[in-house]
Amino acid sequence: TIAVHRTIPPFRALRRDATLASETVALVPTMGALHAGHISLIHQAAQTNHNIVVSIFVNPAQFAPTEDLDSYPRTFTSDLAKLQNLNVQLESEGALGRVKAVFAPTVEVLYPNGIPLDTKQQKGAFVTVQPLASKLEGGPRPHFFRGVATVVLKLFNIVQPDVACFGQKDVQQCVILKRMVEDLHVPVHLVIGGTIREEDGLAMSSRNVYLGQKRRAAAPGFYKALKQAEAVWLEALKSGRQTVSRSEVLERFYEGMKGLGEKEGVQFVVEYVSIADFKELEELEYVDTRKGGILSAAVRVLPVEEDQSPVRLIDNIILKGP
Ligand code: PAJ
Repeated sequence: TIAVHRTIPPFRALRRDATLASETVALVPTMGALHAGHISLIHQAAQTNHNIVVSIFVNPAQFAPTEDLDSYPRTFTSDLAKLQNLNVQLESEGALGRVKAVFAPTVEVLYPNGIPLDTKQQKGAFVTVQPLASKLEGGPRPHFFRGVATVVLKLFNIVQPDVACFGQKDVQQCVILKRMVEDLHVPVHLVIGGTIREEDGLAMSSRNVYLGQKRRAAAPGFYKALKQAEAVWLEALKSGRQTVSRSEVLERFYEGMKGLGEKEGVQFVVEYVSIADFKELEELEYVDTRKGGILSAAVRVLPVEEDQSPVRLIDNIILKGP
């Protein structure tokens, strides 16, 4: 059975025991509402690590007052059942590791001196990785990555994992956390897992439940548009070109987005689309086919029914070299 802890001391013990047994600890941080994307990260971690810790914490510091902190899906009981099922599967596969513990702290445990909220009320210690945190997702959500980096460093300090796993779905989060680990010499090895998708291509996300039927039906078109843009890149690679211009790729993306959702009466607004380098997330005018880049975008899917709010979708494709 999986131990569930709301406090820190059991993780000191877990770390000490693992070290004494020459075993590794891997951490998979989540906000719960677990889906196949989360599970695949944990599954991957268990191939090469003995002890997996899954954290489940809806981190208030990464939500703006206007965002969905209160309505964010919380499904703790079924989350735990999914982890228990996964352990059965890992056992039958003869995997190296299992989920040993879930860390589900209270806000008071994680923020004993309160939450360093908005930039006006900077109170206490926090981590920010600039200017990466101001780009892309950081535009409409300036508070967001500060909240993410701060809570992830806390989790690293509490669990002291050898390895921590994150999903490519949130590619900017990966870039920022890698940079934090490098710049602050955090002794954790980051592993990035690929994006897990629904059958129709929509990237899995805990927030997809907000879409409702009509918007859910139209949503896969977003990934299709990204794939069409990627095709431009792949063609260029195949024909041995040295560079691909940003506008060639982006034109194809916008073409793919045109008329999307018309059938379902659903409107998409492109918030941003970016082709950037892997390290600084600087926008590239030309993409070097030997280097590649990150093609990422965010769209806002507008409400179609009275009681709905807009839903933001993010997705990305790595434009890989040969
Ligand atoms: P959350 O959205 O719950 O995601 C937890 C982890 O699962 C992240 O690393 C995310 O990138 C990964 N993930 C989400 N959807 C995925 C998918 N479709 N395929 C593969 N991986 C996927 O990201 C967060 O929580 C928070 O910001 C957190 C890092 C926990 C800090 O609060």
